[in-house]
Amino acid sequence: RHILVLHGPNLNLLGTRQPEIYGHETLADINAHLERVAAEHGAQCSHFQSNHEGELLDRIHAARQDGTDFIIINAGAYTHTSIALADGLASVDIPFIEVHLSNVYRREAFRHHSFLSSTAKGVVAGLGAFGYEAALLSALRA
Ligand code: DQA
Repeated sequence: RHILVLHGPNLNLLGTRQPEIYGHETLADINAHLERVAAEHGAQCSHFQSNHEGELLDRIHAARQDGTDFIIINAGAYTHTSIALADGLASVDIPFIEVHLSNVYRREAFRHHSFLSSTAKGVVAGLGAFGYEAALLSALRA
């Protein structure tokens, strides 16, 4: 199985970005851990981060042809704004899980709505970096 992990805007700053909200682990730490867990299950995990909506969309489109079975996505703030990403994810017909490090529901009201959730297989929020691992383990069972 081939799992693609997508990270949206500002997630390249993890580790130093508001660590009281997002934790101390860097994106490289998280990606390395996910690769290890996937390998332990005989699966492959690739990852892509971008601060640009269009680049994330291009990567989602490419997933149609590169053997991706499942997508795990933390779209960052685009979660709350991007109809384009929601349409893209719905168009490629690859199941996906939406992840947020923080519990968006105990934060500002503008973080309570997600354009992605209505077509997601599942949503994980508030579990920190472990949320990605939970999503990965779920994807590996799917
Ligand atoms: C986030 C929550 C979003 O509201 C925020 O814009 C992010 C990160 C999270 O992982 O908790 O960039 O997706």
